[in-house]
Amino acid sequence: MQRRALIADSAAGSPEMVAGVLTRFGFVRTASATDRDDAIAQMRDGHFDLVVIPVSGITSSQLLALEKEIRRNPNTAVIATAPVSDPDIIVRSMRAGVHEFLVYPPKPEEMAGSVERLMRRGRTETERGELIAVYSGKGGLGSTSIAVNVAQAFGAQRTDSRVALLDLVVAGGDVRVFLNLKPSYDLSHLVAKGNQVDAELLNSLLTPCPGGVWALPTGDHPEDEELFDTAAVGSILNLLRAHFGVTVVDCDHHLSEATLAALDAADRIVLVTQLSVPALRSTQRSLAVCRRLGYDDAKLCIVVNRYQSGDVLPVSDAEDLLRCPIYWKLPNDYRLSAASLTRGVPVSIEDAASKLARSYSDLARKLTGSGSSKSGSSPVKDGSGGSRLRRLFGTDKGVSHVA
Ligand SMILES: Nc1ncnc2c1ncn2[C@@H]1O[C@H](COP(=O)(O)OP(=O)(O)OP(=O)(O)O)[C@@H](O)[C@H]1O
Ligand SMILES: [Mg+2]
Repeated sequence: MQRRALIADSAAGSPEMVAGVLTRFGFVRTASATDRDDAIAQMRDGHFDLVVIPVSGITSSQLLALEKEIRRNPNTAVIATAPVSDPDIIVRSMRAGVHEFLVYPPKPEEMAGSVERLMRRGRTETERGELIAVYSGKGGLGSTSIAVNVAQAFGAQRTDSRVALLDLVVAGGDVRVFLNLKPSYDLSHLVAKGNQVDAELLNSLLTPCPGGVWALPTGDHPEDEELFDTAAVGSILNLLRAHFGVTVVDCDHHLSEATLAALDAADRIVLVTQLSVPALRSTQRSLAVCRRLGYDDAKLCIVVNRYQSGDVLPVSDAEDLLRCPIYWKLPNDYRLSAASLTRGVPVSIEDAASKLARSYSDLARKLTGSGSSKSGSSPVKDGSGGSRLRRLFGTDKGVSHVA
């Protein structure tokens, strides 16, 4: 879906900030109006999904004309701005049908919060975004690369909704490195807010990245792990699903309560492997755990990373060993993977035409395409993690490595 916005007289703040916010919500063209009258005239002549208009000093006849256009265009969302938060002007604007009011110049997160709320109008509260967990029991196989690049591909494909990228690698997660982020906030800040998080706070805690992805990295505090129990992670996942079309989670290799909460809640689990004996043995164990957890086979997507046609182990042998079809193969391209990691950008930004970038994009399309399993889409039941781990391993806490 390609959306159109109309901004009157720079009412939304600096054009760079506005463009940054709007592209993330699927706006492709932003028209400008010289003043309020011009904006109202343009609303009369064309369709806009969003109009931002200044209301300071608006006359009664202008307000009447604006109200008429809002009534005629029930699908147009209108944000009014003014330099001060004057109750009289807010009430008059709202009575005319304006949907949101922002003090000028709005901060990017305030603007994003308003646009987010407005674009969600009409969507039912029960609508939930998709959740993709990326997991491998063994380190170094490419989980973070896949989480970051598949999230980026969703961002490019889903212009009608936003994409969240959640790092659940509690100690030393790499999402911030892969995207060269210096975030003010991380997962621990969101956990600390408990149940008080609304859309606006969520937008201010997540870090917007180019291409429609909003990232929530982890901090560098291994002691935080205790805080990330099933209840905390479950409520974060529910929150992200309520506000984002797709949420991609980079899971810890360690089968912690947090990992388990993400695997449970996921619609799809991307099980990352490579065509080597140690990697496949680890995947075999992960599959066994997933089956013990009662996951439907349709939820499990085995992705062979770093595939090259000359691999000693053929794909058919891997499928026999795992007793499961290989869902996708990502080509080996070390030079490109290393270059994009060094620059801190996704592969598609480093080299959009590469085979690897295209393969990430096709994988993303397949993951949320038809036939997507909804078996994991029920809300996470908080507080059940300890007992599930006990049942799996006879332990109280997540102390087991699947690899
Ligand atoms: N398709 C690919 N082709 C070549 N190299 C790749 C590919 N995907 C990932 N790599 C490289 O493999 C290495 C490990 O990748 P990554 O950090 O994504 O794995 P991980 O499973 O998240 O590892 P960790 O255990 O550190 O969390 C990186 O150097 C990355 O550049
Ligand atoms: Mg990683």
